[in-house]
Amino acid sequence: MLGRLNHVAIAVPDLEAATAVYRDTLGARVSQPQSLPEHGVSVVFIDLDNTKVELLEPLGDASPIESFLQKNPSGGIHHICYEVDDIRTARDRLLADGARVLGDGQPKIGAHGKPVLFLHPKDFMGTLVELEQV
Ligand code: CO
Repeated sequence: MLGRLNHVAIAVPDLEAATAVYRDTLGARVSQPQSLPEHGVSVVFIDLDNTKVELLEPLGDASPIESFLQKNPSGGIHHICYEVDDIRTARDRLLADGARVLGDGQPKIGAHGKPVLFLHPKDFMGTLVELEQV
């Protein structure tokens, strides 16, 4: 079911400072920041040869990463994203196996303009998993 690792997402308290660390200290290719109000985050993409890293900063009052940053004030790995060919087929198989899909279970359009779903961390060894249809 799983394809490639699409990205690892790191929640950060200060997007500009985190971007500077990746750009200047680590010498990585970084994108311009993007605001995604419908997801409650601002994002910078770190472009690596084999995958991406996303830096996420809370945007707005009800950001889904706010409570994570309260528990991890200096930031931390927030989720990992795997590619799937067909997100509804993947979802139905996971639900049939008893896994929990977050939200209303319907795919939403993610930061890359593709359908995504999030899976409950308690079902996946404490890791929030995002599936993205590619
Ligand atoms: Co993501």
